[in-house]
Amino acid sequence: MARELLRDWFGLELSAVSLDQLGDTLAEAEAYRLLSRTVAERCASDAAALTDALQGATGAVVHRGVAGLCAVAAPIYGAAGVVGAAVATLARTADSEGELAALLCVTAEEARAVLERTAVLSEQDLLHAKDLVAQAARAASRLAASDPENAGQALASGRHPFLEMIGTAPAILEVTKLVEKVAKSHATALIHGESGTGKELVARAIHYHGPRAKKPFVVQNCSAFNDNLLESALFGHVRGAFTGAVKDQRGLFEAADGGTFFLDEVGDMSAALQVKLLRVLQEGTFTPVGGTKPIKVDVRVVAASHKDLSAMVSRREFREDLFYRLNVLKISLPPLRDRKSDIPLLVRHFLRKHQPANRTLPRMTPAAMAVLMAYPWPGNIRELEHEIERMLVLAGNTDELGPSLISTRIHGGGQAAAPLTVPLADLVRATISQAITAGLVRAAGDREALARDLGVSRPYLEAQCAQLGIDASR
Ligand SMILES: Nc1ncnc2c1ncn2[C@@H]1O[C@H](COP(=O)(O)OP(=O)(O)OP(=O)(O)O)[C@@H](O)[C@H]1O
Ligand SMILES: [Mg+2]
Repeated sequence: MARELLRDWFGLELSAVSLDQLGDTLAEAEAYRLLSRTVAERCASDAAALTDALQGATGAVVHRGVAGLCAVAAPIYGAAGVVGAAVATLARTADSEGELAALLCVTAEEARAVLERTAVLSEQDLLHAKDLVAQAARAASRLAASDPENAGQALASGRHPFLEMIGTAPAILEVTKLVEKVAKSHATALIHGESGTGKELVARAIHYHGPRAKKPFVVQNCSAFNDNLLESALFGHVRGAFTGAVKDQRGLFEAADGGTFFLDEVGDMSAALQVKLLRVLQEGTFTPVGGTKPIKVDVRVVAASHKDLSAMVSRREFREDLFYRLNVLKISLPPLRDRKSDIPLLVRHFLRKHQPANRTLPRMTPAAMAVLMAYPWPGNIRELEHEIERMLVLAGNTDELGPSLISTRIHGGGQAAAPLTVPLADLVRATISQAITAGLVRAAGDREALARDLGVSRPYLEAQCAQLGIDASR
């Protein structure tokens, strides 16, 4: 309830996080994310100050950070003291607008949009917000006390789904803005994007930010089953409809009543089922397999496809009328290769998501980052996520992730496949870093010899190593 009130009244987003996630939670808030790097680095010290303030606090504290940006936080207590915090991010005070706009690393127009989306709170608002955050923290403390085993998970699941949509590239900011608008409406939405670009993530965000958030969110992949099974899964069947139908079975459309139905890979639906779906969209009714009585439901449909449905329409593989029904609101997700500037943010996000809970966050070396930046990522964000997971497993207990941990496919693939989509500076860095790391192995760590091999001076080599984060002594 506190989360909803904070959102509706003040436009603040409440999360419950463990103490070590505090810095990242601040850093992820939009206005913070878009600050220039030097300013954003203050997040770490902001988080430290906030952590200090939370120790022993009974109610909520207001943290005033850079350019008047503030967060409201209250401690969550476990058996052993403060284990986490309820944090509402991110507001600003009215008089800091100019200062903040100047620090935002975006065009003037984008800065205006960010400012618009960042809540402006009066001192009175802040008092109310503090009350709500403190109440949420008390509820979370009770949860942590009654179930300490799962408290960590409970804290993590309190995170806000929009926070999971990482990215500040213009292409993705457009999408985030659109998703916010789409979420508030009731219309059917169609999400188009290559495999692994986040279609399901967007569908969930639409549901959980819309008026149906408390009702079910149901997912069915239309390419997973054969036609008969899919029809029965979607619409249910009556007893005796086919061999094995020993009793009436409710379909997923009924299960989704009042909520949202995410129809994934809708382009794979057969012509017969397309007709049935069209009827649900037009009249809100359908008939179970073998049934005679139509059933009425109130379901919002969000569909997704990696195929180009309009091209399928012109080839007569997809019904035109259904296409127009689905395509009321269209969201196109950019492939990762068109938003490479988001890779560092995504990497950090996945490092945190997949590191074992008891370990400190390992660091991606600049050399490894350069390799990741140079690759075209045909499998998009999902592929990147798997790669980071793999690197974490291979890294064991080391706290630095170097280029040697990256799959060979990615080392090789990037250069050959799409060098021109990469900023040249990144390409140069990646190439230099690969030459040095490979050379160090070959020269068995003899830097004098390596410098000679590479035709550079020893001090130049050292400087490059330092700059690229290559530990030449290893
Ligand atoms: N903007 C994003 N920020 C953070 N994580 C993301 C983002 N987009 C996608 N992901 C993550 O990438 C993975 C793939 O996303 P998702 O399953 O939504 O993609 P998809 O388009 O449905 O893929 P597929 O076509 O393979 O079904 C998920 O783990 C998701 O959480
Ligand atoms: Mg999917």
